[in-house]
Amino acid sequence: MLRTVLTTEWGLRYPIIGAPMAGAAGGALAAAVTRAGGLGMIGVGSQATTEFVLQEAEVAAEAGPFGIGLMVWALAERPDLLEATVYTRPYLVSLSFGDPSPYVSRCHASGILVATQVHSREDATAAERAGVDLIVVQGNEAGGHTGTVATLPLLQIVLDAVSVPVVAAGGIAAPTGVAAALAAGAVGVWIGTALLACAESMHSAAARQRILDSLETGTLWTHLYDDVQGLAWPQAYAGRALANAFTRRWDEPGARHASNSQAAEAFRTGRGDYDIDYIYAGQAVGLVQRKSTAGDVIRHLGTGAEAVLRERLISLLVAL
Ligand SMILES: Cc1cc2nc3c(=O)[nH]c(=O)nc-3n(C[C@H](O)[C@H](O)[C@H](O)COP(=O)(O)O)c2cc1C
Repeated sequence: MLRTVLTTEWGLRYPIIGAPMAGAAGGALAAAVTRAGGLGMIGVGSQATTEFVLQEAEVAAEAGPFGIGLMVWALAERPDLLEATVYTRPYLVSLSFGDPSPYVSRCHASGILVATQVHSREDATAAERAGVDLIVVQGNEAGGHTGTVATLPLLQIVLDAVSVPVVAAGGIAAPTGVAAALAAGAVGVWIGTALLACAESMHSAAARQRILDSLETGTLWTHLYDDVQGLAWPQAYAGRALANAFTRRWDEPGARHASNSQAAEAFRTGRGDYDIDYIYAGQAVGLVQRKSTAGDVIRHLGTGAEAVLRERLISLLVAL
């Protein structure tokens, strides 16, 4: 058993949180992660309905504690998403991609713990001042929207900067990666891409097959998909997705594409065709090579990390 605050105080079997992933992590995936001994989370996008939140939370709650992830930049116009979330009484709410401070006390008043994903030292110290219970260091190699700094430098910087518990997100999809994050001082890991090809994800069979077929070199970090959909993502965040014919044709690295009506039209007519449509995934997609259940992924990462830490650390220390 790995002893961190997530196992001793939160009561998890493994210090592993299933990341909230809009479009991929609904109640079924969250429930499967929780049943296997992690904490499963539901991802709520800026366009989600409150019915989605209520329905998926009901499914997740059948397995026990669960979390819900919200996008802070969307909440000013969608306060209903926070209200629906609080109503479902999750164990954890993640308030990411924006300043969480206006919403922390609303969650705490209902007995809900708060996490936030951070992308710099400044984000992390501000999150600590805002009173969050868990800081998620999210590196640029992560799937979905991220900042610009990679997981390992950001983890070292944030561990040095705050005393709130920290988990690592971005690029972790094997027991060795879980062990590395824990050895560095994280209290756990926040896993997204490793769960994308599982049957319990919301992805279609075709999308899951693309994920299985993709390599670590096959992603890009782009504003393109946000821009062609007219989503109001702040400039600081772009999304890591699988590269395809559409991104190769239209992505201009670092640029905004909102005025590109040809790209927007090509996107609109190509939904569901993964040479055009998006599949958000991180660089760890190169480690996702076979079909498995979410439960198998969590148990493999958890028990595997226990073994890696036992064997590797002992052999390193003996060599001293
Ligand atoms: C398909 C997908 C959708 C995501 N959607 C969200 C989201 O709705 N809210 C959020 O806070 N993070 C979201 N993320 C980021 C994850 O919470 C997490 O940081 C990331 O998956 C961790 O890196 P990894 O993919 O390398 O495991 C998403 C990630 C992916 C892959």
